[in-house]
Amino acid sequence: MSIKTEAGSHAAQPAHPSNTSECDLTAIIDLVDDLCGVYLDESKGYLIESRLGPIARRFECRDYGELVNRALAIGGESVRSEIVDAITTHETLFFRDESPFRAMRFKVLPDLIQHIEDTGRARQIRVWSAACSTGQEVYSIAMVLHEIAQDLPGWDLQVFGTDISPASVATAERGWYSNLEVGRGLDAMNKSNYFSQEASGWQVAPELQRRAKFAVRNLLKPFPETNQFDIVFCRNVAIYFKPNQRADMFHRMVDTMTPGGWLFVGSAERLSDLGPAFTPQSHCDCTVYRPK
Ligand SMILES: C[S@@+](CC[C@H](N)C(=O)[O-])C[C@H]1O[C@@H](n2cnc3c(N)ncnc32)[C@H](O)[C@@H]1O
Repeated sequence: MSIKTEAGSHAAQPAHPSNTSECDLTAIIDLVDDLCGVYLDESKGYLIESRLGPIARRFECRDYGELVNRALAIGGESVRSEIVDAITTHETLFFRDESPFRAMRFKVLPDLIQHIEDTGRARQIRVWSAACSTGQEVYSIAMVLHEIAQDLPGWDLQVFGTDISPASVATAERGWYSNLEVGRGLDAMNKSNYFSQEASGWQVAPELQRRAKFAVRNLLKPFPETNQFDIVFCRNVAIYFKPNQRADMFHRMVDTMTPGGWLFVGSAERLSDLGPAFTPQSHCDCTVYRPK
């Protein structure tokens, strides 16, 4: 597949699949699949051109075959991470879908706290926001944790946010959001309690940042944790995976959870096809799973 210039006047052919070298197209599709599990079938030529074309031009590649070679070469990390950033969808907002946060606040956390007290386990709760994008999900969770922490002296409540996109993780770590971003899902009370105006945007309060840790992580690779997370949010990411990758990821995710842990998925996602361990429960208008 050849690359169009900004002016569209490059001698190369337009990057539509019908004008594309079969080999280049397959190579870029395979690379994206390998890097992040997003499978761009051949009908997605427009997506390849609109998202990867600018990267190929910036790295001065003549065609997508060359971009693949650059990405796979030694030192190709920055090319790979730009490709992942460009291909993945980072749409997110504070308190997305609302009901998971209500269920966590009014059902899951009270049950967990009781369970931990009953079993004499260390007074700590670990939440994982897997595929956290730019961090709005993590800080929404941190707000809920911070609120209940006021009545739980001596407890350690933490949220861990991970995403495959290094740029998204960097934004999440920084914790600075534009007016537009804080206007999506954040009510006036949370905004005034947990954000301060800074450089024409809003900075998350240090008390929330102290509860949040972040890392770059590919959900399609093995997870280092076992028996660690009491609550996992894995929302609006598995929809991009192939069915076998999705099933494998959720089964591996179970091992990262503590027994009786709680799993939240996106509002349009269902896990019943993954077997009896993934029987849905409903709390506060939200579907939740307890697969372990
Ligand atoms: C649509 S956002 C969802 C963000 C948040 N969970 C929410 O529901 O608002 C999807 C995120 O999944 C990330 N992602 C895509 N493939 C991934 C993979 N293989 N491993 C980890 N994260 C991935 C993307 O970088 C993106 O930030």
